[in-house]
Amino acid sequence: MPEEPIGVIGAGWVGLATATGFADLGHHVTVRDVTPERVAALSAGVVPIHEPGLAQLLEQNRDRLRFTLELDDVLESARIIFVCVGTPATYSGEADLSAVWGVIDELAGCERELVIVMKSTVPVGTGERVRRRLDERGLAHVGYVSNPEFLAEGTALANFRNPDRVVVGSFAATDGDRVAALYAPLAAPILRTDVASAEMIKLASNAALVTRISFINEIANVCELVGADIEDVARGIGLDRRLGPHFLRAGIGYGGSCFPKDASALKQLAANSGYHFQLLASVIEVNELQKRRVVQKLRDHLGSLHGKTVALLGLTFKPHTDDMREAPSLVLGSRLLAEGAVVRAWDPVARDVQRHFPDGVELAETPLEAVHGADAALIVTEWPELTELVRSEVRDAMRTPLIVDGRNMLDPTAVRAAGFTYEAIGRPSAMVTELNESRNESRLPF
Ligand code: NAD
Ligand code: UGA
Repeated sequence: MPEEPIGVIGAGWVGLATATGFADLGHHVTVRDVTPERVAALSAGVVPIHEPGLAQLLEQNRDRLRFTLELDDVLESARIIFVCVGTPATYSGEADLSAVWGVIDELAGCERELVIVMKSTVPVGTGERVRRRLDERGLAHVGYVSNPEFLAEGTALANFRNPDRVVVGSFAATDGDRVAALYAPLAAPILRTDVASAEMIKLASNAALVTRISFINEIANVCELVGADIEDVARGIGLDRRLGPHFLRAGIGYGGSCFPKDASALKQLAANSGYHFQLLASVIEVNELQKRRVVQKLRDHLGSLHGKTVALLGLTFKPHTDDMREAPSLVLGSRLLAEGAVVRAWDPVARDVQRHFPDGVELAETPLEAVHGADAALIVTEWPELTELVRSEVRDAMRTPLIVDGRNMLDPTAVRAAGFTYEAIGRPSAMVTELNESRNESRLPF
């Protein structure tokens, strides 16, 4: 396809994946952010986030990428502009659209013909509101397209190159055509819809994914009580072609910059429209409770956690990202501190850890340093480095050789063979087996 100059507003995960992805397809891309340090770093070839492969792809396409603080630089060069600014949650659980409106309001007086493409995740109805505001400000010549983003952190570039689908929702078919054409080289299915449906596809997709996670976590919790193994159970469920194997990993629940806020935003959107979204409300509640169950597992083994040292292993909300937004480690770390535990944290890429834990955690350089003399190792994020824990040297370094695996990443047989006490999520545990046996003995015959 012919080269089309592209603009990108916002240089976070979505903006950078979009910008480098389109640059790699041969387009010139101008990226605007409002954070001077971010723009300076990117202009110097330094990527400010941890996303595998991004630095290399940026380097390979440097001659087609330009970073700027000025919106005018984007407007001068591009006719298609992707909006990739953040839409975090407000206190009321809705999406904070101030950055989106900031961008739209900056277009005032723009006489050029252009298409604004919304990649940020926004509530259903946002496109309609933006369209109205543009029209009221004499910007009827500015087109609007909803093109929600489905990438996951850690695999952002692969997701750009090989998406399951591209959704293009438009008011005017010609605007949608121009955006769809950009994706044609990717050979992905392109779904054309109206704007509201495109917006809903994004929110509903994330809602479906979190529902699966809370579902499998509840099945795991029941497995613990009845002596089944969630790993086998999930495998068995996933082999049903109607259900599939994805998003059935039981653990301490979902976190991240999107799932928590998008689930909450959809719940609020429904409530504001007069509908109580009961299923989603339960999914969110299950996730909140799930994070805390591992604290009880620690108590079951150690009694009071006051004065006990717990190694908090992995701080980011998932491996292969440095994103700490809504990471379960934040809840777990502060719970443990509140229980009087000494928390020694390790993560290979998380930054500004002390800022995230104002009450203070000790920081370790390596997993081994974190568990040295500890009463328990709590795996919060399944960084591959943590498989190295399963060694007798590590067992001997701990005060109590207890591993609580919040992500079911270790092999229980190997861990126990190495001399550890091992607790996971939804997998048979020595303690639960004992408990069930005593319950069965005391159960009255009916
Ligand atoms: P982010 O917070 O990492 O990045 C947003 C960037 O926008 C920041 O660098 C910020 O400085 C910049 N910004 C804010 N106002 C601006 C303005 N007026 N002009 C230019 N830049 C501005 O956000 P993200 O994680 O990339 O997410 C962006 C959007 O995409 C959100 O709506 C999110 O829900 C959605 N999304 C994110 C992901 C993901 O995995 N991170 C995946 C799919 C969708
Ligand atoms: C998620 C979606 O996967 C993307 O499709 C979506 O575009 C993105 O949110 C978004 O809207 O921002 P991401 O948050 O980067 O992407 O990461 P995921 O791999 O989905 O993991 C999210 C959380 O769910 C993590 O805390 C992870 O540990 C947890 N998770 C995931 C589980 O607990 N179990 C699973 O089976 C899968």
